Amino acid sequence: MDSAFLFILFFSSMFLSIQAFQANCLILKCGDGAPDIRFPFRLSGRQPHHCGRPAFELSCKDNTTMIRFPSYGELVVKSISYDVRKLHLLDPKNCVHQVFLNLNLSHTPFRYYYVIKNYTYLNCSTRLPPSFSEVTCLSDSRHHVYTVESSLVLPESCRPVKTVAIPFSYSPYLADNSFGLGLTWSSPGSDEDCEAKGGQCKLQTGYSTTKPEKGFPIKYLNLGDISSKFLMVLLCILAVVLLISIKMYHSKKVDMQLENENLLEVLRCYKAQENM
Ligand SMILES: *[C@@H]1O[C@H](CO)[C@@H](O)[C@H](O)[C@H]1NC(C)=O
Ligand SMILES: *[C@@H]1O[C@H](CO)[C@@H](O)[C@H](O)[C@H]1NC(C)=O
Ligand SMILES: *[C@@H]1O[C@H](CO)[C@@H](O)[C@H](O)[C@H]1NC(C)=O
Ligand SMILES: *[C@@H]1O[C@H](CO)[C@@H](O)[C@H](O)[C@H]1NC(C)=O
Repeated sequence: MDSAFLFILFFSSMFLSIQAFQANCLILKCGDGAPDIRFPFRLSGRQPHHCGRPAFELSCKDNTTMIRFPSYGELVVKSISYDVRKLHLLDPKNCVHQVFLNLNLSHTPFRYYYVIKNYTYLNCSTRLPPSFSEVTCLSDSRHHVYTVESSLVLPESCRPVKTVAIPFSYSPYLADNSFGLGLTWSSPGSDEDCEAKGGQCKLQTGYSTTKPEKGFPIKYLNLGDISSKFLMVLLCILAVVLLISIKMYHSKKVDMQLENENLLEVLRCYKAQENM
């Protein structure tokens, strides 16, 4: 056993230890009171890719959690309920109808949490009777925007902008921009248990997503136990390597007997930790 070998052993154990730490996807948050970020979500740039599923990437902006939708842009994540799989979002521009008009959830794993119903947005040149609720954040002095049930006969001064399916239970609150948006997400059945129990799920490495049209053919591993055991062994090896280095420094004579003792020490160290 020469010192070059020891160095290689030392650095490779260091490397493997770091890897093992990373495998333990830590739960993060963007600030005090911000939602916990864990599988299937991932804090982009702070948690490795395997800690979340694709399209579940979050970011932090001024202690606030954000999620990005290609069809709309960024929305504030107010809360995440992992047990019922509900994502409570807010529009940073405080105009939830702007979101409803533009957010396209097809090709995302997300759906509206509440029951949806088709509504038509109208752009009217005159004000309609008060029984119609005006979307103030989309209206100005000359154009008045309303949401009506799709079946409604169009008032003369109005032209339809777009018909979209929006959360039905949202309708009583149409004038309230703070009501926010509830989304839910779909998971492969095997993930549900792990997510709900707060287990340390992660993507199985090396699993290729060859059939995205079948949902999310991605499996998780419950890594908590495996990686901590792995880490224990590595730390034991590391400690023994250090011990050998010190011994070698003091006497250059390392014979077979000493090597056997070292091996025993690794085993003893591991056994001791396992019994803790
Ligand atoms: C974020 O939170 C930290 C700690 O609570 C605080 O010091 C900082 O001012 C906050 N930043 C913003 C932009 O709110
Ligand atoms: C949403 O986007 C898909 C393609 O990405 C498109 O086919 C569909 O028409 C869009 N839906 C709406 C309501 O715009
Ligand atoms: C909304 O209308 C579209 C087009 O007519 C239809 O395909 C869709 O199923 C409707 N959605 C709801 C929730 O009624
Ligand atoms: C309503 O119509 C006016 C004039 O065509 C337009 O400038 C405005 O952007 C429209 N508003 C919406 C929300 O479509």
